[in-house]
Amino acid sequence: MKAARQSISIVRRGEAVKIDAFSPTETLLDYLRLREAAIGTKEGCAEGDCGACTVALGRPDGRGGVDYRPVNACIHLLGMADGAEVVTIEDLAAGGMLHPIQQAFVDHHASQCGFCTPGFVMALFALYHRKEDGPVDRETVNDAIAGNLCRCTGYKPIVAAAVEACAGEADDGFGGPVAAAALSDIADPEPLHQGDERRFFASPATIDELAALYRLHPDATLIAGATDVGLWITKQLRPIEKVIHVGRVAGLAEVEETDEAITIGAAATYREAEAALARIDPDIGEVLRRLGSAQVRAAGTIGGNIANGSPIGDTPPLLIALGAELKLRRGAETRTIALEQFFIDYGKQDRLPGEFVEFVRVPKPGADTRIRAYKISKRFDQDISALLAAFAFRLENGRIASARIAFGGMAGTPKRARQAEAAVVGLDLNDRRRWDAALDALAQDFTPLSDHRASAAYRLRVARGLLNKALIEIAGTPSSRTRLVGVRQGRDGRAGA
Ligand SMILES: Cc1cc2nc3c(=O)[nH]c(=O)nc-3n(C[C@H](O)[C@H](O)[C@H](O)COP(=O)(O)OP(=O)(O)OC[C@H]3O[C@@H](n4cnc5c(N)ncnc54)[C@H](O)[C@@H]3O)c2cc1C
Ligand code: FES
Ligand code: FES
Repeated sequence: MKAARQSISIVRRGEAVKIDAFSPTETLLDYLRLREAAIGTKEGCAEGDCGACTVALGRPDGRGGVDYRPVNACIHLLGMADGAEVVTIEDLAAGGMLHPIQQAFVDHHASQCGFCTPGFVMALFALYHRKEDGPVDRETVNDAIAGNLCRCTGYKPIVAAAVEACAGEADDGFGGPVAAAALSDIADPEPLHQGDERRFFASPATIDELAALYRLHPDATLIAGATDVGLWITKQLRPIEKVIHVGRVAGLAEVEETDEAITIGAAATYREAEAALARIDPDIGEVLRRLGSAQVRAAGTIGGNIANGSPIGDTPPLLIALGAELKLRRGAETRTIALEQFFIDYGKQDRLPGEFVEFVRVPKPGADTRIRAYKISKRFDQDISALLAAFAFRLENGRIASARIAFGGMAGTPKRARQAEAAVVGLDLNDRRRWDAALDALAQDFTPLSDHRASAAYRLRVARGLLNKALIEIAGTPSSRTRLVGVRQGRDGRAGA
């Protein structure tokens, strides 16, 4: 392994800042508030839910500019910010002038007590600097601030301020060639190892370094986006001594698309994987759009969503229905398994000490396959699923020739509904008489639990309803008649298909 460096560097207000010592679990929020006294960034929930701590992280966009992403500083570890420009609320006003977003907040009376305001403004700063084409309308703004809570102002003036401020091209002095040059000055391809052998934050630079380091320290905690592990630190106060961050490993964040498959590296964020997965089917895009918030999607990864093995993670059922495979690596050894085999039992995955997820490969369904995916949660946005259902039906002459059905929230793991799959095969989509038997089969597949999200009876009933809905839609009923909120944008772009 190459000699590792001990310090990290970030850009603050155009200047390089070198940080020589930090604890493996120090959060970016604690760094800002306690070390810099940059107390404009607030701590509300300390678990990624309220957005009060939102800051923007800028990284080179590969075109000579800077890509700004909103992150929840409360659950983002300081070491993960290595190589980034960190923009906080204090940095926006310049020369006695407010930033256009701040000015719009004033003009629209979009702040009352003000506690949430820095977080809203920073989430919108990232939207202001968006790289995606297209107008900023109410829907875009609602998406950008779904992870920000305001208790007193009300969202109407906030949304109005955002639509006005983010309408045109960014013109605030951020993100230009000077900022890009500052980032290139601090870029350091060497691996990072801050600490000693007993307590460290490490960021390997290559996959071989990651494999060797994790083999040597199988007791270390791997982190990708830390949208889960961050809460182990801030809420569960777990004593974590060794942290290995996979986010800087060369090539591990890549999303490769061919005619046959999409390969998603374990460090690719939801946001990075979203477009390719949404091209498979618009329902998948919609589930990903509703996963967490813009802040969570900018940091959290599909690899982390799989590896943490939650029974209510959104992407595992989707990917299982699509027939995804997982590549795991331990030292020099690799193996590939069907994704559903990875989930053995509640809290138990098929992963050896020192073994990590390298990538997930998602085969693209053929033109004869129909996909449907539905997320059921108490709140429409920024909420963990009570249930997630994903269906892939291959059709032949109006009949279902083969089926893959997967659910989250129905068992201790994300799980295929094998009995229901067997029961739908052969179904004539024009003859509803046999559908009930397929719906009944779900009760043989699952004995769901009751918890604060949903009762067992509710879960089973909704699962039946979702399978029924998938069959109804695939048989030809337009989604404008089956969906209460929105309609499905068909693969051919037709609304309601
Ligand atoms: C506010 C909020 C909202 C959320 N909403 C949703 C939601 O709507 N739907 C949903 O599904 N989830 C949601 N989550 C949960 C969270 O985003 C996911 O679990 C996320 O996918 C974890 O990814 P990560 O990269 O942040 O993982 P991390 O927190 O970095 O890691 C998660 C786990 O995976 C392990 N791990 C990470 N990378 C690897 C690897 N390469 N190999 C092996 N193990 C690895 C870690 O050791 C840890 O055990 C939400 C979280 C927050 C904070
Ligand atoms: S403090 Fe609430 S999201 Fe960070
Ligand atoms: S202005 Fe008070 S919480 Fe938003």
